[in-house]
Amino acid sequence: MTTRRVLVTGGAGFIGSTVADSFLADGWSVTVLDNFASGKRPNVPKAATLVEADIRSPEAAACIRDGQFDVVCHLAAQIDVRKSVTDPAFDVDVNIGGSVNLMQAVHATGRKTRMIFASTGGAVYGDFVEPPNIETYQKDPESPYGIAKFAVELYLAYYARVHKLDYVALRFANVYGPRQDPHGEAGVVAIFCQRIIDGKPLTVFGDGGQTRDYVYVGDVARAHLLAAKLPTIPAGRVDDRAFNLGTQIETSVVDLARGLMQAAKKEVPLQHAEARAGEQRRSVVSIQKAKTGLGWTPEMPIAEGLRRTYDWFASR
Ligand SMILES: NC(=O)c1ccc[n+]([C@@H]2O[C@H](COP(=O)([O-])OP(=O)(O)OC[C@H]3O[C@@H](n4cnc5c(N)ncnc54)[C@H](O)[C@@H]3O)[C@@H](O)[C@H]2O)c1
Repeated sequence: MTTRRVLVTGGAGFIGSTVADSFLADGWSVTVLDNFASGKRPNVPKAATLVEADIRSPEAAACIRDGQFDVVCHLAAQIDVRKSVTDPAFDVDVNIGGSVNLMQAVHATGRKTRMIFASTGGAVYGDFVEPPNIETYQKDPESPYGIAKFAVELYLAYYARVHKLDYVALRFANVYGPRQDPHGEAGVVAIFCQRIIDGKPLTVFGDGGQTRDYVYVGDVARAHLLAAKLPTIPAGRVDDRAFNLGTQIETSVVDLARGLMQAAKKEVPLQHAEARAGEQRRSVVSIQKAKTGLGWTPEMPIAEGLRRTYDWFASR
């Protein structure tokens, strides 16, 4: 049997590098494309081929033209929601412009290459719907970042209908695990881990009762492999090829902090700060469609996932 080939954009990042590891473990030939805007060289698996390029560049398009990929997992992105607010044009340039550059390159090969796109379940649905958020819910993104992610899905649906592009969109909830950057915006688990290690108090905004759906990075990586092997879903509406990836379990910030202290076997104080304006109170996704349509169920219980994440930070 010929070895299947996958390109992982953003493969030097937290989730992308874990996805690359999973495909290697499954026997695929893996190429990582990254410009190291936030990714780290040690994250790139040694067995992968590295292409250092920007997703907006002709080099990225050439990589797809020449690579004979069966699958392109597209995770490279400007991931900072606050940056998308202060500089929406940059967010559009990277997150929409870069993604369209890759889609056009895949289309131009004339090859049957499946794109798997890292979308978001936390930032596309908005606040008007009752959680858990279902894929077909109305989209009212609250940030330029969320708008760009959904815009890319709309482009993918267009390419599928008009140009027969094969794709799957995975809408991640809050992903956590080893390699997450504590200096990033989204990584509350990583930030708390580092503060516990340093013996510093954990800052909780408002009463800490706001909830999120925390899904372990290994479970998200496994979903990419399943998405790579799924029979093609007929082209139709934008939600038809989208799957939420979460746990459908809400965890409050205070419970998360307690869970991490248990994992660390170490107590630090909780320090309450003023609630952040506009912060969503509840965010949790429905995973029924991923279960039936993708054959995916998250396997990592949060207590064990937090322990593995804390241990990884503590061992660095
Ligand atoms: N972390 C989460 O909870 C979460 C939730 C929903 C969606 N996502 C999406 O998952 C993907 C991976 O996120 P992550 O948390 O691993 O972030 P990350 O910052 O660790 O990874 C992003 C990677 O993309 C690379 N990159 C950025 N701009 C690039 C460009 N112009 N050209 C080439 N490479 C570029 C970075 O260097 C980095 O390696 C992103 O698309 C993100 O939007 C993440």
